[in-house]
Amino acid sequence: MPEQPSVLDAVVRTYSAAARLQVSSLGGCCASCGCGAVTSGNYEPSKLEGLAQLENSSLGCGNPIPEADLAPGEVVLDLGSGAGLDTFLAAQRVGADGLAIGLDVTREMAELAERNRRTHRIDNARFLVGRMECIPLPSASVDVVLSNCVLNLSVDKRALVAEVFRVLKPGGRLVASDIVAGGPVSEELRREVGLWSACFAGALSVEEWTALLNDAGFCEVRIEPRRSYSESDVGTVGLPADAPTFLSAVLWARRPGPNGAAS
Ligand SMILES: C[S@@+](CC[C@H](N)C(=O)[O-])C[C@H]1O[C@@H](n2cnc3c(N)ncnc32)[C@H](O)[C@@H]1O
Repeated sequence: MPEQPSVLDAVVRTYSAAARLQVSSLGGCCASCGCGAVTSGNYEPSKLEGLAQLENSSLGCGNPIPEADLAPGEVVLDLGSGAGLDTFLAAQRVGADGLAIGLDVTREMAELAERNRRTHRIDNARFLVGRMECIPLPSASVDVVLSNCVLNLSVDKRALVAEVFRVLKPGGRLVASDIVAGGPVSEELRREVGLWSACFAGALSVEEWTALLNDAGFCEVRIEPRRSYSESDVGTVGLPADAPTFLSAVLWARRPGPNGAAS
């Protein structure tokens, strides 16, 4: 696997460029891969409630919002919030008594999201710059951690799941859309820094995610595939011939409640 700084540097370069291009001019895509089929068609237009013009800026590979069952008053953290669409949709659902916080390691992305927040006048959202492996929030301060096509980008997934567990309140939940590998990812593919930014080289299998989340102390771990990508979906990304298939999936996990059970 490549050194952590080289992957993170490449990821930040890729998503800084995407933010500078206002994302939409890329035509929708996992930024560097040319696979618009991954990022398009994930949202039902009628559910975008005044935010339809931001759909083109989405670099996600699913839609965690309907999966998260958000309630008024909840505090939501959106890891790798990009241009902010999921953070804003979460803010609408948690209402004025709740809060949606977007966290992104790429400063230009957080700045773009903040501009979008002001344009759309969403008062109960805010954006932070930082790494999801070292979340700048107090322990047990968040009801729901959301994420859309970001967890795969972490080169230290053990630190990532430990941080998600730490910031969740007891009984709180993780709900993430992400790309998962349908089989083993070769060491050769893991070494391709450019394919990390494209969301493939860092993808784990369902079994790997399940073990990681259970080891970190989560309960009710569930991972459901939603869509299998065809060769034409991943287009010009340049995956090696022995690459496994890749899927869009939804991951759920809960931090046990005060009595060890779900609350
Ligand atoms: C594929 S984009 C998805 C953006 C957004 N979730 C969406 O659906 O449009 C990945 C985002 O994750 C951010 N990111 C990558 N690695 C990160 C990390 N270690 N910590 C926080 N954000 C990260 C990138 O800067 C980028 O904005």
